[in-house]
Amino acid sequence: MQDFAPELLAKLKSAKHVAVLTGAGVSAESGVPTFRDAQTGLWARFRPEDLATPEAFRRDPKLVWDWYAHRARAVGAVEPNPGHRALALMQDLFPQFTLITQNVDGLHARSGSRAVIELHGNILKHKCMDCSIALDLSSASPGSPPPCPCGKSSYRPDVVWFGENLPLAALDEAKIAAAACDVFFCVGTSTVVYPAAELPFSARRHGAAVVEVNRDETPLTAEADYVLRGASGEILPALLDAMQAKA
Ligand code: OAD
Repeated sequence: MQDFAPELLAKLKSAKHVAVLTGAGVSAESGVPTFRDAQTGLWARFRPEDLATPEAFRRDPKLVWDWYAHRARAVGAVEPNPGHRALALMQDLFPQFTLITQNVDGLHARSGSRAVIELHGNILKHKCMDCSIALDLSSASPGSPPPCPCGKSSYRPDVVWFGENLPLAALDEAKIAAAACDVFFCVGTSTVVYPAAELPFSARRHGAAVVEVNRDETPLTAEADYVLRGASGEILPALLDAMQAKA
């Protein structure tokens, strides 16, 4: 069994509010590609300016629609991994638990996590490019984006593109949790994309213990109170076991 710092386990035992921010690394063991890993990361293989901006969608809606439809189908074909499941089980161990994700894959909800704050949207949802009305499509098919009944534009994936603001209510909720929690976990994120990357630093300024769970070093590593180095699909279930053994 992996060893965890006794002070970390003690902090978790007495914590009233635990918040967790996840990134692409938490879904890597499900087979969803990350963004910045050399060779396999999406941004190592595709140019975000061709696929993940409003300008790219206006320039070539079919190309962007098809790319997201392909990713949505790929996400639908994978399963949550032990890291997602451990986080879903953790939600019932604390009086308050906030799960914030930058992932658009919906895997946290599929593994049983409730009230997930999706900072970057959800690849399985769609909205009108102009009027923002949501479209109920269980999954997008390749082809051209369907027109919105408003007549002004077509539907687009309900994800945050480069140059766009994050959904305000979600960001507010995340900031409030970061400022109020006792322990803040940062799991499988390179911690370079703002404003999400600011959350662990804000949590620390407000007095939370910050725990990084990551295979690699990030800009947060030097600031984190605890660094759990390795795959989240192994570390999180082991931490859950250790917490329950102490309970
Ligand atoms: P990145 O690809 O930038 O970072 C993934 C992080 O997870 C890296 O630090 C990896 O070392 C780590 N990692 C990989 N596999 C892991 C594993 N099995 N266990 C633990 N850690 C692992 O992805 P994000 O930080 O999520 O934004 O990227 C942030 C945002 O940038 C994304 O939400 C996306 C992207 O542009 C939008 O699309 C708006």
